[in-house]
Amino acid sequence: MKRDFLRISELNRQEIYRIFDIAKHYKSERTMGLSSRLLRDKSIGMLFNKPSTRTRISFEIAVYELGGNPIYLPGETTQISRGETVRDTAQVTSRYLHGIVIRTYSQGDIEEFARYFAHPVINALTDLLHPCQILSDCFTISEKKGRVEGMNVTYLGDGNNISNSLILAADIMGFNIRISAPEGYQPPEEIVNLMKNKDLLKIDTDPGKFINDADVIYTDTWTSMGSEAETEKREKIFEKYQVNSRLLAGAKKDFIFMHCLPAHRGFEVTDEVIDSENSVILDQAENRLHCQKALLHFIYSD
Ligand code: CP
Ligand code: NVA
Repeated sequence: MKRDFLRISELNRQEIYRIFDIAKHYKSERTMGLSSRLLRDKSIGMLFNKPSTRTRISFEIAVYELGGNPIYLPGETTQISRGETVRDTAQVTSRYLHGIVIRTYSQGDIEEFARYFAHPVINALTDLLHPCQILSDCFTISEKKGRVEGMNVTYLGDGNNISNSLILAADIMGFNIRISAPEGYQPPEEIVNLMKNKDLLKIDTDPGKFINDADVIYTDTWTSMGSEAETEKREKIFEKYQVNSRLLAGAKKDFIFMHCLPAHRGFEVTDEVIDSENSVILDQAENRLHCQKALLHFIYSD
């Protein structure tokens, strides 16, 4: 049976640790993929309806280094942009491709695509979720802190695809997720209700509430792709959630700062924090490549 990756909860803890083991191998030997040629003779589409730097580049290279053929499909150059349906696109591309990585707006669209596509579908970000990012971020946390389980992860800012995926990951991996977000921008019920262990989640409007015992402090843009019209309004609403040295005054010495990037310096985070010794953003970005290669390995060797 084909294996999709549309939300992180499609993997259990054991499978995630298996993917981490594979990622460690690929990280220690970049070219190992070329020798394994796991994706030889396979073409993997990359359908992107939103911009991307990290996800697209790391997936293209991951497919290439596993011996496959990545095909970049900017949404606006396909017939989707002229109204061809998700179902027709999925059924037709199914006859050519052996898998597809999709970045789009609606989680419902990617789930519909997966119903009509005969091969694995990987979610490269929707408005609701960003599972590849958070899979890789859990790997980065384990690398930097020695474990994921039991960690205190604090997220500040907009309740978006990143914080939603962190909540789902906390439930699988057993870490505490604390979210500081203004009223009206907190995680949606549809995500919170999916948690089996709701004790792992705390939500508050106070930006300073979950700083002092945090092992990980994470933020993301206040305005996600697709909400640009609200940028000015959001800058005012989120101002006090900026991660700056004043907010972090009582933080642990060895906390790590994470951001999925792209960052809006001077808004959700200041230069002094994102460029500090606590910041792991570049290793975090690099690990996308190793973890996605490991995810593809896991999916295609099953
Ligand atoms: N973090 C992330 O997904 O970055 P891109 O939008 O550049 O792919
Ligand atoms: N929340 C951001 C993540 C970008 C990787 C967005 O959706 O734009």
